[in-house]
Amino acid sequence: MTTTIEDLQAEALARIAVAPDGAAVEALRVAYLGKQGSISALLKTLGAMTPEQRQVEGPRIHALREQVAAALAERKEALEAQALEKRLASEKLDLTLPAPEAPRGAVHPVSQVLDELAEIFADMGFAVASGPEIEDDWHNFTALNMPETHPARAMHDTFYFPDQMGADGRKMLLRTHTSPVQIRTMVADGAPVRIIAPGRVYRSDSDATHTPMFHQIEGLVIDRGIHLGHLKWTLETFLKAFFERDDIVLRFRPSYFPFTEPSVEADVGYAEVGGRRVLGGDGDTPGHAWMELLGSGMVNPRVLEFCGLDPTEWQGFAFGVGVDRLAMLKYAMDDLRAFFDGDVRWLRHYGFSALDVPTLSAGVGVRA
Ligand code: PHE
Repeated sequence: MTTTIEDLQAEALARIAVAPDGAAVEALRVAYLGKQGSISALLKTLGAMTPEQRQVEGPRIHALREQVAAALAERKEALEAQALEKRLASEKLDLTLPAPEAPRGAVHPVSQVLDELAEIFADMGFAVASGPEIEDDWHNFTALNMPETHPARAMHDTFYFPDQMGADGRKMLLRTHTSPVQIRTMVADGAPVRIIAPGRVYRSDSDATHTPMFHQIEGLVIDRGIHLGHLKWTLETFLKAFFERDDIVLRFRPSYFPFTEPSVEADVGYAEVGGRRVLGGDGDTPGHAWMELLGSGMVNPRVLEFCGLDPTEWQGFAFGVGVDRLAMLKYAMDDLRAFFDGDVRWLRHYGFSALDVPTLSAGVGVRA
């Protein structure tokens, strides 16, 4: 018996000391201390002993068990420490290595220009309003003084939803302009109003300068005593700030929109410089010409009535501009279709850094 305990002790401690990994330590624990383990078997022999024998052997066997358990724990800890050491040594970070290049996104010119416009108009006290792109006939046409049979509707040929009727019982459609936001704003908020409404609009049109989806920005001011002079000043101030030129000259031409009366089309003077159209200067001076830029006018009293406003008390002006067109003119891009192709090479070339946030103080334009 005496030799058995000592042999067992020597054997166990020797094997534990060289156990190569956690699994081996666990196997040894089972072999010695597990239910069928040899030390457990030894403990079971205590029951058959005489009290005298038990008094001698009991403490020895228990001591052996504790010693083996301690050796197992110690070996396990040592192995874990060794593994950690090894990992720390192999995973050393070399801070002198160049960082891997992360692909950087770019801000689309339309988004950039929308931000520029919001910044410019915020400075003039305009809030930003929005409306749904899937619009009903009443907001897109009727309330804008374009009744069902109005010929102006033909210019706004769009996409209808054959199975989806609006509250007016007529087919829903993709809005053809941002002007329905005028209606929604006046109906919801009454007067006074000073908003811009940027957004996507749709027409069934497609060539180098027309895409079925494009962007507009609407402006609407309603108050007491608003007249054409306010419109002219607002457009001039906006275009000078946007194109960052003091020599922007506007020409107002009589026009027709059912929702404005009088209606004026604003042209801007430009010169052809090295094959590029550069805005600025009087279009009537040599080397210059006029370019049609936007539609505007005094809000038609009938539109005010549709929105529940008294036209003897309130009047206002509205304008609508193509945002993509503004971007093309300012940043010298010539094909509108490329705007919406999603070609990453185009975006890399014409896109803006996310850090180039337009602010009035820093200049709303990024590139000259
Ligand atoms: N909604 C008109 C268009 O899309 C533009 C416009 C807006 C004209 C506001 C006058 C006033 O052509």
